[in-house]
Amino acid sequence: MAFDIEMIRAVYARFGERVEAARKVVGRPLTLSEKILYAHLYEGTPTKAFDRGKTYVDFAPDRVAMQDATAQMALLQFMQAGKSKVSVPSTVHCDHLIQAKIGADQDLATANNQNKEVYDFLASVSNKYGIGFWKAGAGIIHQVVLENYAFPGGMMIGTDSHTPNAGGLGMIAIGVGGADAVDVMAGMAWELKFPKFIGVKLTGKLSGWTAAKDVILKVAGILTVKGGTGYIVEYFGDGAESISCTGKATICNMGAEIGATTSVFAYDKKMKEYLEGTERADIAAEADKVARYLRADDEVYADPAKYYDQLIEINLSELEPHINGPFTPDAAWPLSQFSKAVKEHGWPAKLEVGLIGSCTNSSYEDMTRAASIAEQAVSKNLKAKSEFTVTPGSELVRYTTERDGLLQTFDEMGGVVLANACGPCIGQWARHMDDPNRKNSIITSFNRNFAKRNDGNPNTHAFVASPEIVTALALAGDLTFNPVTDTLTNEEGKQVKLDEPKGLELPIKGFAVEDAGYLAPAEDGTGVQVKVDPLSDRLQLLEGFKPWEGTDLTGLKLLIKAKGKCTTDHISMAGPWLKYRGHLDNISNNMLIGATNAYNDRTNSVKNQLSGTYAEVPAVARAYKASGIGSVVIGDENYGEGSSREHAAMEPRHLGVRAILVKSFARIHETNLKKQGMLGLTFMNPKDYDKVQEDDSIDIIGLKDFTPGVPLIIILNHANGSKDYVLANHTYNEGQIEWFKAGSALNLIRLQNRQ
Ligand code: F3S
Repeated sequence: MAFDIEMIRAVYARFGERVEAARKVVGRPLTLSEKILYAHLYEGTPTKAFDRGKTYVDFAPDRVAMQDATAQMALLQFMQAGKSKVSVPSTVHCDHLIQAKIGADQDLATANNQNKEVYDFLASVSNKYGIGFWKAGAGIIHQVVLENYAFPGGMMIGTDSHTPNAGGLGMIAIGVGGADAVDVMAGMAWELKFPKFIGVKLTGKLSGWTAAKDVILKVAGILTVKGGTGYIVEYFGDGAESISCTGKATICNMGAEIGATTSVFAYDKKMKEYLEGTERADIAAEADKVARYLRADDEVYADPAKYYDQLIEINLSELEPHINGPFTPDAAWPLSQFSKAVKEHGWPAKLEVGLIGSCTNSSYEDMTRAASIAEQAVSKNLKAKSEFTVTPGSELVRYTTERDGLLQTFDEMGGVVLANACGPCIGQWARHMDDPNRKNSIITSFNRNFAKRNDGNPNTHAFVASPEIVTALALAGDLTFNPVTDTLTNEEGKQVKLDEPKGLELPIKGFAVEDAGYLAPAEDGTGVQVKVDPLSDRLQLLEGFKPWEGTDLTGLKLLIKAKGKCTTDHISMAGPWLKYRGHLDNISNNMLIGATNAYNDRTNSVKNQLSGTYAEVPAVARAYKASGIGSVVIGDENYGEGSSREHAAMEPRHLGVRAILVKSFARIHETNLKKQGMLGLTFMNPKDYDKVQEDDSIDIIGLKDFTPGVPLIIILNHANGSKDYVLANHTYNEGQIEWFKAGSALNLIRLQNRQ
């Protein structure tokens, strides 16, 4: 349906040659991830080796996927690039904005109503620029990507942290911010620090109650939530080949919980079967032809400790089911020890809700295994003691599982089927609860379980497990129940034991769907109008930022001297502001409201030099802007750490800030500032931070000769007439200086497109 076989053929046509070239320059056998990365260099055929964990490298991903929350600003920006079509196949998925409240049909109708303007915008902008559009109810981005777009050896970026899900089909798939998606859609390079590699050797075979989910729950326990940072996790070994393709996807999905760049499995029989089962036999046939490149070199598998930076071994035959939590996904408990942990820690043993599905665990295999437990409610006369919800990952899965009677089984157990969307997984859950102050427990087959993640309630203890364990515990209504060893009392008062789960990797009758929810874009979108209501408070078309005026910048006012930690959350707060992420002017009212003013130790209270009064940061910035005066933000160490949210760079630019001068930057934020045409500078001498005074006017000198490696001069004009001269370093290369001059990277692309 929606995949692009020609693009895939082109990737495979150059794959071998690039891998051979990479092996030569690297001078040793290659891991699978290295093969895929070197085959996707922006410069083409590899000519030099990169240092793992050190070198920043430009890549050319094959695809872009965006979810509806992050797609809004990304596409508003893309419109600025002046292109008629996206440069690589791209898709938009409406999954994050649907709130779970009553059940699939009603919730979807409400979402379509409430989010109409956002959906209309996304549908029209997709139609115009050649982007595939998956409407609300079509499914969750990662499941839809796995079913339609992922392919072995491919590389994609997605504007969501669980994009690595596609690693289950052998793809290097990385979660990024909207600005990165814009770059790739506009044909620019995408930069990544060349990662390091963790090898996970799987031996043995899963059996009984143990599922693929337990592999990643175990790995999370070993590596912790930070252990994967800067690494790609590569799974291999006989055990890996025995896990279904969708099981592999579950494992890769939750690699996000250990901070990994991504996770990946080598192409194998299970992937081939999944491709064939999802009507992509032609891709499997193409992958077969280059199969030797879609796995690590034999020497790597023979001596993995030599080639991976870290190595973990797990014997699947000995792996127990796990339950992880509460409040963090790396608190890993083997099932046999969990009941004791619940008692010792005083976690509420009563299980109130069991939730299965989500992007992590809603494959046909997951649903059949969970249903094989649910049907024992009927056959063994058990009544589910907890509430139970089912979130199918896609309409393909929902339709097929309905056809095969699985949803009926969940219904008979008392379950509620929710829309094919994120829902409770992202906190879009209007949970009905008598007393939110009561400590309570829920268990999900999702991936994240931080406090408040699912229902916004800090008293909720959320645990994570496989769908079959969640279903068994929902039947018991008790966290201390161990289905492997314990019995349950049925409605007749008899003790019954649950049989082990059974499942099917793929439906015997094949997948089926009536309306998958996909809208293909227009062949020629020139005449398509992008729909944005000028009165909308959620969406606003962007105007290109003004180009540099060609002179030094003088008479700028100090807006804020931020003290201490200033993350992208301090700069552009999330929470209720997310609603405005498609409306730059409205969301700019949160600019720097979380940053601490060094002069009064307060947040969101800075001096307006024009009036001498204190006011909120955005209000003061707007006052300067209205008077035609630019402003400057001064920051401390590691300014802009945290999420890669581009709003943190766009908002100051929009409100007239001309430069951010700090002791040091978080790199991604520094790059985002450059892309928006802003000056991101660092004190050559960090102690000069102390010279900045509250009433300073600031000049930035040297811009006419703005050159890589040459510092700029900052003049601090103090209120008493004295001056301080300080030097500011920058990391702009020649191309980035052109972004500054053009007003933004997108302005430059637009100019180039016109020529
Ligand atoms: Fe993310 Fe869960 Fe949706 S992990 S994509 S929020 S289903």
